[in-house]
Amino acid sequence: MTTTKEMYADYERRAELGGGEDRLKKQREAGKLTARERVELLFDPGSFEEVDKFVTHRCQDFGMENQVIPGDGVVCGRGRIAGRVVFAFAQDFTVFGGSLSETNALKICKVMDLAMNMGAPIIGLNDSGGARIQEGVVSLGGYADIFLRNTLASGVVPQISAIMGPCAGGAVYSPAITDFSIMVKNTSYMFVTGPDVIKTVTHEDVSKEDLGGAMTHNEKSGVAHFAVENDQECILLIRELLSFMPSNNVDDPPRVATSDPVDRADEALDTLVPENPNQPYDILDVISAIVDDGYFLEVHRHFAKNIVVGFARLGGRPVGVVANQPAYLAGVLDIDASAKGARFVRFCDAFNIPLVTFEDVPGFLPGTVQEWGGIIRHGAKLLYAFAEATVPKLTVITRKAYGGAYCVMSSKHIRTDVNYAWPTAEIAVMGAEGAVNILYKREIEASSDVAAARAEKIAEYKEKFANPYVAASRGYVDQVIQPRQTRAKLIAGLASLENKRDHNPPKKHGNIPL
Ligand code: HXC
Repeated sequence: MTTTKEMYADYERRAELGGGEDRLKKQREAGKLTARERVELLFDPGSFEEVDKFVTHRCQDFGMENQVIPGDGVVCGRGRIAGRVVFAFAQDFTVFGGSLSETNALKICKVMDLAMNMGAPIIGLNDSGGARIQEGVVSLGGYADIFLRNTLASGVVPQISAIMGPCAGGAVYSPAITDFSIMVKNTSYMFVTGPDVIKTVTHEDVSKEDLGGAMTHNEKSGVAHFAVENDQECILLIRELLSFMPSNNVDDPPRVATSDPVDRADEALDTLVPENPNQPYDILDVISAIVDDGYFLEVHRHFAKNIVVGFARLGGRPVGVVANQPAYLAGVLDIDASAKGARFVRFCDAFNIPLVTFEDVPGFLPGTVQEWGGIIRHGAKLLYAFAEATVPKLTVITRKAYGGAYCVMSSKHIRTDVNYAWPTAEIAVMGAEGAVNILYKREIEASSDVAAARAEKIAEYKEKFANPYVAASRGYVDQVIQPRQTRAKLIAGLASLENKRDHNPPKKHGNIPL
């Protein structure tokens, strides 16, 4: 007869082994860590507590009664990351391809419910062949149960998805609802329908990598926010990302001590914006010159590069940075940039992370592609997101703030608390060339020297409008500051907003233009 000790050892061994030595070896040969190795790396050493390690599937069909593996292909539990409680699930590809069974889904839902109840972040490490085919609709139901929880948890606890293997079919909608998705290059892919179905339906030939690999979703679709080289980098990035976030929507983000002086003045900033307004400069240079230790964790780096979003700290306090990028498409706002910015702003607002906006924007991108693609609808997302945000909001206009984009980019009018402008700021309905062509068209054409007449009108317009002083005289800009003062000013501004109280009117929810 088996002793209790032997029985325990047997369960433990089988759970630890997952799909067996051969499949574990295959997993490693593919350049992937195993589910258990991923979890160990994710949490502070020794802090992981597994739940439901011995749960098994309940499927009696297709010979499944003879294939019972404790844990059933997903490792679930809680641990600590930088000392804070975090819940996670890691799909084990070695067990039925990490496919989602009824009990597998119940395990994931259990840790999601716990995370919600404890006000702790939830991390999903995805590596799965999707719905467990043998279980049919029960498995589909399991997915829907997870999607519901992803939706209910949205804005309550941070949710991060790592795609570390296949993620196909409806399964992609769980990561899509979560706040951030990280994809591992070469080993992960996401798509609603795979290359074979596409070939049949649309006759297109496309590889898995091109269709839904890490760079496809980072550069083209914007579905993923980060692309990393390997599993180790992926896990470290999750830990890093969490360091900027509170555990839930009623906590504040964690502050860290910094040795970077709050009044550090960077003189290089005074000459960073070129004299010629059509000449680009890199807004990342501005950001890194201002934030603590020059450290900026850029989010969505490969997508819609005309806007930059990411996390940094000012005086040790996490902030979300949103910045137009003059070095790419002159920093113009287009459909993708608007959607990218809006989603980031809403994340920060949901999780009490102050927003710092750097503005140098010539306006919205003109053209039929943009108009027919719905730039009105998409541009409105960014406007809506900034307008509804009640976290501390600070804006620095470094150069252009033209047209509707002036209003959108966290202007004073949409409840921004602190608005600074550099002396190089140009705040107007449009740029000088365009304005002069409209206002003085006939006068210029009638002139004996058209070029000289146009140049004169442009100079006049610039003198009157291409500066921050009209806005400052109205109070739309609180202060015109020297660029080198920006760090000290932002930190002081943030400190003054420590006890900010602002609320939106009571409602079920708003209707952001989707
Ligand atoms: C049951 C599965 C499985 C699944 C893989 N396996 N997917 N078992 N249900 N969905 C098993 C395989 O039988 C195999 O078992 C092991 O996992 C590894 O799979 P391989 O095919 O050998 O691995 P690989 O060559 O790396 O290919 C991986 C894969 C492929 C591309 C993921 O397995 C695949 O195409 N699977 C089916 C994907 C799919 O169509 N899923 C349904 C999507 S729709 P052994 O015993 O040989 O190791 C969906 C709907 C969600 O998920 C709906 C939400 C609303």
